[in-house]
Amino acid sequence: MLSESEARESVIVALDCDRKEALRLAGQLEGRARWVKVGMTLFYAEGPSIVREMGERGLRVFLDLKLHDIPFQVFGAARSASLSGADMLSIHALGSAQMVSQARAGVERAAEECGRDRTRLVAISVLTSMDEEALSSVGIDRDLSDEVSRLASLAVGAGSDGIVCSPQEAASMRALLGPDALIVTPGVRPAGAALGDQRRVATPAAAIAAGASKLVVGRPVTRAGDPVATFESIVSELCEG
Ligand code: C5P
Repeated sequence: MLSESEARESVIVALDCDRKEALRLAGQLEGRARWVKVGMTLFYAEGPSIVREMGERGLRVFLDLKLHDIPFQVFGAARSASLSGADMLSIHALGSAQMVSQARAGVERAAEECGRDRTRLVAISVLTSMDEEALSSVGIDRDLSDEVSRLASLAVGAGSDGIVCSPQEAASMRALLGPDALIVTPGVRPAGAALGDQRRVATPAAAIAAGASKLVVGRPVTRAGDPVATFESIVSELCEG
């Protein structure tokens, strides 16, 4: 069971929409939500200004850009993303320990340059859209959960603050990575909410009970008739356990 403040801090609302809609939702959630997620669709359309605009509304930003390139490029990308004001940034563990450590160096450089808190890094292990067949098709034949564990250890060992995984992997990731790791879980659905394209889902309370630090919730809030009421009901669920 979380305090109300902890519950508000735990929910990241994914703004997978255009700028106008994102700003409308941010305005509605201002003072209630603490975090929003800006993904590639919104960021590639609007650039760093959208991150700043969220910050001006008192919202912290998880910039979900899933960086994956050569270490030199990822250093620069992580630094630039961090300078935009992002509080958390995603990278792909598959890019190697060297790539993850250069992402860490990039966000550290940005923090030194602008004198603000360092952007936290979370690593994608295996995309939740991939199953064992898809993994095998790209040449990885080991058990999917072993691959997730291996990449999570690699990423955190190389300087990532945590990982992104499905709620169903949160408990094993918490056991593997320890109490301080950030464990961010999408695929969260309040009881009765439409699944959409998500398959491996859990309720907000179940995801937190399994050890998630933060939940990413998109359409159940953003497409609700009353996004504020839906967000508040998730907060209440987390407070009640
Ligand atoms: O609308 P919904 O709650 O399904 O949104 C989940 C969000 O989490 C989306 O922005 C999606 O891009 C993101 N995400 C995901 N699975 C991952 C990583 C991120 O669904 N493995």
